Amino acid sequence: MKEKIIIVEDDPAMRLGMNHFLRAYGYEATSCDDGAKALSILDSEIFDIAIVDLKLPGVDGLTLLKHIKTISPQTGVIIITAFAEVKTAVQAIKDGAFDYIAKPFTNEELLLVIERFLKFRTLEKEVKYLSELVKKKDEFEGIVSTSSVMKEIFDKIDAVAKTDVPVLIQGESGTGKELIANAIQKQSLRKEKPYIKINCAAIPETLFESELFGYEKGAFTGATETKKGKFELANGGTIFFDEIGDMPLSLQAKLLRVIEDGIVYRLGGKEPIKINVRCIYATSKNLKELIKAEKFREDLFYRINVMPIAIPPLKERKEDIPVLIEKFLKIFSEKYGKQNITISPSAYEALLSYDYPGNVRELKHAIERALLLSKDGVIDIKHLPEEFSPLSSFQKKCFISNFSLKECIENFEKNLIIKALQECGWKKTEAAKKLGISRKALWEKIKFYGIEPNP
Ligand SMILES: Nc1ncnc2c1ncn2[C@@H]1O[C@H](COP(=O)(O)OP(=O)(O)OP(=O)(O)O)[C@@H](O)[C@H]1O
Ligand SMILES: [Mg+2]
Repeated sequence: MKEKIIIVEDDPAMRLGMNHFLRAYGYEATSCDDGAKALSILDSEIFDIAIVDLKLPGVDGLTLLKHIKTISPQTGVIIITAFAEVKTAVQAIKDGAFDYIAKPFTNEELLLVIERFLKFRTLEKEVKYLSELVKKKDEFEGIVSTSSVMKEIFDKIDAVAKTDVPVLIQGESGTGKELIANAIQKQSLRKEKPYIKINCAAIPETLFESELFGYEKGAFTGATETKKGKFELANGGTIFFDEIGDMPLSLQAKLLRVIEDGIVYRLGGKEPIKINVRCIYATSKNLKELIKAEKFREDLFYRINVMPIAIPPLKERKEDIPVLIEKFLKIFSEKYGKQNITISPSAYEALLSYDYPGNVRELKHAIERALLLSKDGVIDIKHLPEEFSPLSSFQKKCFISNFSLKECIENFEKNLIIKALQECGWKKTEAAKKLGISRKALWEKIKFYGIEPNP
């Protein structure tokens, strides 16, 4: 279908001329001679392009333009001007017109502007589509990241998700192991099938077997009903063994047998039950060390370590921190109905330089807490947990490095002053009072240490 164009022009010769010419080019042209009539047409019909004369009886061109941009922002508006009106035409462009064309003009000149707009619109759509695609790619099943290590992990997931290859996810607590396991399951061919999660650290050893394999009625005291185990419940789907390093040794042998044979027996049962499950494993422990300490079976390790995915701690991929901050701010702003939250430069710096022993989870909690504590829409250093302050990070450094006592004390003093200044919004009188020293003494120390406010 050809594009719809409305011509609003009071000069009959021009109006009819344009109408005729555009129709001859296959456009669906409509025309009218005054602004008020145009408004009522535009209220009920959507046009791709509006060609609007600046000087119109009733409602003038600029008013009409504003109206069109409100009710139909995607319509391209081309303004027709007399030479003397160029200033107003420039205003029209500022108000959202695509371009203007000065009288007298030829039909070909008009056609060029129309074609330029249509090309622009196609490109605009393409850019929008591509940027949405990029955004989607940036966010992999809710996992945000810009670091190249995480990109490699996403590629690995793409490569194995649709197979039944066992995956072993290793990473410190809070690095996103469960998120990765979920992403694999969601992209697998088993995504519509059961997805059972077992936290091996949370099930008491005595209950483990009955949980995994189920039991027959009367198998032991208290087994009043036959119960299916997790393997049976997950049949056809996926099992996620979280904290596999915490699985009791005796059970590891049994697990190995099940994954090798694909058969389980309920406790007290004689019937073999055929099992078809895809297993994903995660651990925050070093399995090789557990093997050395004889707490993990080596043969099981080789069975499950077919596709290892190692998630680095957050401090080794600090480039992810800004996008994570942005993501969590968005999540919690929506959750708590807070808008336009910003982070002060000192708080941002503290968030970027902190080491996050609790990884992404710690960052997430810090943002949530800070957002709740902030009152005027600004997250400041005082809203972050104590560990984030420059003081405590330096204290930690003092313990692990070979600084001299003098260096430690000086740095301690410097950081204490920075912290006091930050907390007082860099007001020296207030900071001096807080530190219990005179304003002059503070000023001298600021000079001595070369302390400057954050940009
Ligand atoms: N890259 C990421 N993008 C967005 N959110 C993330 C990311 N990584 C982790 N998270 C969030 O951080 C929290 C911790 O992640 P998850 O539970 O997957 O970690 P884990 O490695 O399984 O931790 P644990 O070992 O303590 O069980 C979750 O709330 C998760 O949504
Ligand atoms: Mg977990």
